[in-house]
Amino acid sequence: MTHTNSIIIPEKATCAVIRSFGGPEVLQIEQLPVPEIGDNQLLIKVKAVSINPIDWKQRKGNHRFILGAPFPIVPGYDVSGVVAKVGAEIENFKVGDEVFGVLDNKYGGAYGQFAKGTERCFVHKPLNITFEQAAAVSLAALTALQALRDKAGLKRNDTLVVNGAGGGVGHFALQIGKLLGAKVIAVSSERSRKFVESFKPDEHIDYNRSKWWKKTEKVDVFFDVAGMLSFTKVLGKLNRGGSYVNTLPRPKILLHKLLQPFVGRKVHTMLMQQRADDLILLSQWLANEQLKVHVDKVFELKDVQDAHRYAQSGRVQGKIVITIPQ
Ligand SMILES: NC(=O)c1ccc[n+]([C@@H]2O[C@H](COP(=O)([O-])OP(=O)(O)OC[C@H]3O[C@@H](n4cnc5c(N)ncnc54)[C@H](OP(=O)(O)O)[C@@H]3O)[C@@H](O)[C@H]2O)c1
Repeated sequence: MTHTNSIIIPEKATCAVIRSFGGPEVLQIEQLPVPEIGDNQLLIKVKAVSINPIDWKQRKGNHRFILGAPFPIVPGYDVSGVVAKVGAEIENFKVGDEVFGVLDNKYGGAYGQFAKGTERCFVHKPLNITFEQAAAVSLAALTALQALRDKAGLKRNDTLVVNGAGGGVGHFALQIGKLLGAKVIAVSSERSRKFVESFKPDEHIDYNRSKWWKKTEKVDVFFDVAGMLSFTKVLGKLNRGGSYVNTLPRPKILLHKLLQPFVGRKVHTMLMQQRADDLILLSQWLANEQLKVHVDKVFELKDVQDAHRYAQSGRVQGKIVITIPQ
C-alpha cells in the first residue's frame, strides 16, 4: 500500500470485471491490481461511472475483432473522482483535484475503485454538480457537441432534428443545439415526451407516427442519434448544404458519401474524440447551468448486472450511473 498526500492507494481494488463475452451475467465483482500509470497519465480514485451503449456492446463481444479479448477486462469509459496520483509529465492536475472525464484506454477501465487516463481525458469538476452527475456527462455530451458543431457545422438559426432525443446523447444534443443557436426539433416516443420537452425544444415529434420524417419541414442538420434512418431516407428533407449525422458506422455510408457531390447534401458518421478543450467547454456550461445532465437511475457497483440490463432496455431517459464503494 502506498500514500500520495492524503489518498491511500492499495495494491488491489474492487472492480466489475468480465472474463468472457456474453450477457450481463458475465460481469463479476473481483479484486484486481490497481492500474500502473505512465508519465503522461493520471490515476483517479473513482467515485462514480456512467454506462454508455459501448459498454454493453463491448461486453457482448461486438468489438472483439478490433480490440481483441485481453481478459480480465474492466469495462467503462465515463468517470468522476479524485486525482490519486499524477505522472511526471502532468501539468494541469494535482493529487486531490476533483475531476470528471472519459478514459482513453482500449476497453476503458472505469468500473472500479481506481482508473487511469491521459491528461486530455479529464477536466476539473464544477462545484455545483455531484460526482454522480459529473460521471454522466463526458462521452455522451462530447458526442453531441462534436457531432453538431464539428461534423454538421451547425450554425445560429439553422434547423436541427435530434432523433433519439430522450437518451444520453440525445438530451445533450437538444441543449447543445439550443446553445449553438439552432431551432430544435426533438424526436422521441410519446412516453419520453414530457422528459424531452423539459429541455425546451421548439417542436416535438413522436417517432411512432408513420414515416414522421416525411412530414417535417426542410432542415439543415439531421442528427440520427438512434441510428434508425439513413442519409437517403432523409435526403429530401435536408436543405441544400445540409448534413445528416449518425452515430453508428455502417458500410453503406461509403456509398452515400459518393452521392454527396451530386445531391448537394453531406453525410457524416460520428466518432467521439477525447479533447481537453471540449471538456473544459462542457464544464463551463455545467458550472453556468447552461447545460444540465439528467441521471435516470443510480446503481451500486454490486448491482452492475442489473445496471447493464436496464441500459440495454433502450428506455433510459438521460443517463445511468453506478456508484463505486470508497
Ligand atoms: N460513435 C460514437 O462516438 C458514439 C458515441 C456515443 C453513442 N454512440 C451510439 O449512439 C447511440 C445512442 O447512444 P445513447 O448514449 O444516447 O443511448 P441511450 O441513452 O441508451 O438511448 C436510449 C434512448 O433511445 C431512444 N430510442 C429507442 N428507440 C428509438 C427509436 N426507434 N427512435 C428514436 N429514439 C429511440 C429511447 O427514447 P424513447 O423513450 O423515446 O424510445 C431512449 O431514451 C448508441 O447506438 C451508441 O452506441 C456512438
